[in-house]
Amino acid sequence: MNNIIFLGPPGAGKGTQAKRLINRFRIPQLSTGDILRKAVADGTPLGKKAKALMDAGKLVPDEIVNGIVDEALAAPEVSKGFLLDGFPRTVPQAVALDEMLQRRGRKINHVILLEVPTDVLVDRLSGRQTCPRCQTPYGKDSPPKKPGICDKDGEKLIVRPDDQPERVRQRMKEYETKTALLTGYYKARGVVRPVDGVGTVDEVEKRILKALG
Ligand code: AP5
Ligand code: MG
Repeated sequence: MNNIIFLGPPGAGKGTQAKRLINRFRIPQLSTGDILRKAVADGTPLGKKAKALMDAGKLVPDEIVNGIVDEALAAPEVSKGFLLDGFPRTVPQAVALDEMLQRRGRKINHVILLEVPTDVLVDRLSGRQTCPRCQTPYGKDSPPKKPGICDKDGEKLIVRPDDQPERVRQRMKEYETKTALLTGYYKARGVVRPVDGVGTVDEVEKRILKALG
């Protein structure tokens, strides 16, 4: 069963690789970052609560994201499997996810840990453009066919507000102090698959497919 978590620091390539894998496996990508950005863009009550924290590079409270994921896991298309991108990010979120899956008779099969050194992450994020509609990320190594325009839906690409250098630093700090602990949490279950995230997008995709067996 393909119940997969993508774990890794900001800029590791979670979104880039997730977009490829979901096409291949026909499973949905559940990205809390994408869902929150859409809520911010739509100006919903959730978006209003999350905006300032996201812009500052800080994590949104666990109760809010846990609620988003519990709702997303109820969708019928999730029955074939799912790819969680950017969740869980704290130990309480991982505990909440266990409970949500247990309730549905499911469990995590693979945690893909994308490993990329900090200098490469900073370089990637400084060159990223994102589609505000479908959230596809573009970079120096995977540029859009037409500069500044999304290949998939023709939308004008933007620079995420949290990709400014001081906010990137804050996101890295959140990752190191809160999210990195999850490697140990899942290692104890034998589901962690470390993947070298340095290389071309194609190379990293091949490594992920190999790690998934
Ligand atoms: P989120 O959207 O999850 O951001 P993130 O974890 O910081 O990760 P990114 O999306 O920045 O990086 P990525 O790994 O997806 O890399 P990408 O593929 O784009 O979260 C944003 C915010 O939402 C959080 O700060 C928080 O406020 C809130 N939030 C979300 N989830 C939450 C949760 N669970 N709890 C609390 N708060 C939450 O790639 C990056 C760049 O590199 C791109 O330009 C890409 O083209 C390029 N690239 C990718 N792969 C390669 C490669 N192999 N070679 C060269 N370039 C590459
Ligand atoms: Mg992403």
